Amino acid sequence: MQNEQIQITLTSTKKPKPDPSKLGFGHVFTDHMFMMDYHEGQGWHDARIVPYQSISLEPAAMIFHYGQSVFEGLKAYLTKEEEVLLFRPDRNFKRLNQSNDRLCIPEIDEQFALEALKKLISIDRDWIPAAEGTSLYIRPFIISTEPYLGVAPSKSYQFMIILSPVGSYYKEGINPVKIAVERQYVRAVAGGTGNAKTGGNYASSLKAQEIAEKIGYSQVLWLDGKENKYIEEVGSMNIFFKINGEVVTPDLNGSILEGVTRNSIIQLLKHWNIPVIERRISIEEIQQACHDGLLEEAFGTGTAAVISPIGEFLWQNEKLPVQDGKIGKLTRELYDTLTGIQNGTKPDPFDWCVKL
Ligand code: COI
Repeated sequence: MQNEQIQITLTSTKKPKPDPSKLGFGHVFTDHMFMMDYHEGQGWHDARIVPYQSISLEPAAMIFHYGQSVFEGLKAYLTKEEEVLLFRPDRNFKRLNQSNDRLCIPEIDEQFALEALKKLISIDRDWIPAAEGTSLYIRPFIISTEPYLGVAPSKSYQFMIILSPVGSYYKEGINPVKIAVERQYVRAVAGGTGNAKTGGNYASSLKAQEIAEKIGYSQVLWLDGKENKYIEEVGSMNIFFKINGEVVTPDLNGSILEGVTRNSIIQLLKHWNIPVIERRISIEEIQQACHDGLLEEAFGTGTAAVISPIGEFLWQNEKLPVQDGKIGKLTRELYDTLTGIQNGTKPDPFDWCVKL
């Protein structure tokens, strides 16, 4: 599908690097980006790495009107030996194509996309932060570009990859976050786009998120769109609970995102012989477990958030504390192991990391 070379144009003015202790998430971008175009009849073409720059689109470009777009998030890490490791990049490009399929966007060549990403990172390698808890966040995305106001799949697209040196996603870092369980709004329904990574899912989540933040909660926990009863996921993370010695997480029911970190945590737990079950979990079950003293730990997982302990849920005006608001033992072990595998300080028994 993609036999062409990648054209490379390097910047003549390199930007200053940010202070690694003040990184936060998603504000700073590296010197270069990857781009590739699609036109009906021509396929994907003109793969290029260019200086990070603004793009120009017609106001009628379909992305602005009907939101036909997909994205991914993955990370690269610099090891102590100065090697660069990518964490499970094949999974992200595979999921990008699954999202493409749902959004009627033409498939990309996953292998070619990975090679392009490696090339881009090797050019901007000196942007990968080395400090503990930092990494290079990678954002591949595709937008529809055809200037047309009819509702139909676009006939042209742009695929881009941008890079951003990041610290922790939440201001709390590895300290537990407080999550409000959403009662009024829903994120997704079966048959919708909940399991695709598309911008609209996040746009429709903002209202509830804003309300939660106003009352001191970092994110919302979404319940299912039909009965408003079963737990789905948190704003930017999948969710896990440890209840009476057993780990449970919502099953992939078609409306939640199939997280790469979620999958990695399930594999790690199985490897450690810790019971982990994917199933429907009602919010009442979590409330009851909390009342009975059986809700031992709760944490979210995601590429941006990594593993984020949850210290409290708010459900129908009742505060449900977890571990007295402190990080649980298993959550800590999972965090240390996963981040150790990712940054090369711990063995990688599953061969998850790909060297640049
Ligand atoms: C990620 O974890 O990479 C995500 O895509 C979540 C994002 C919305 C910050």
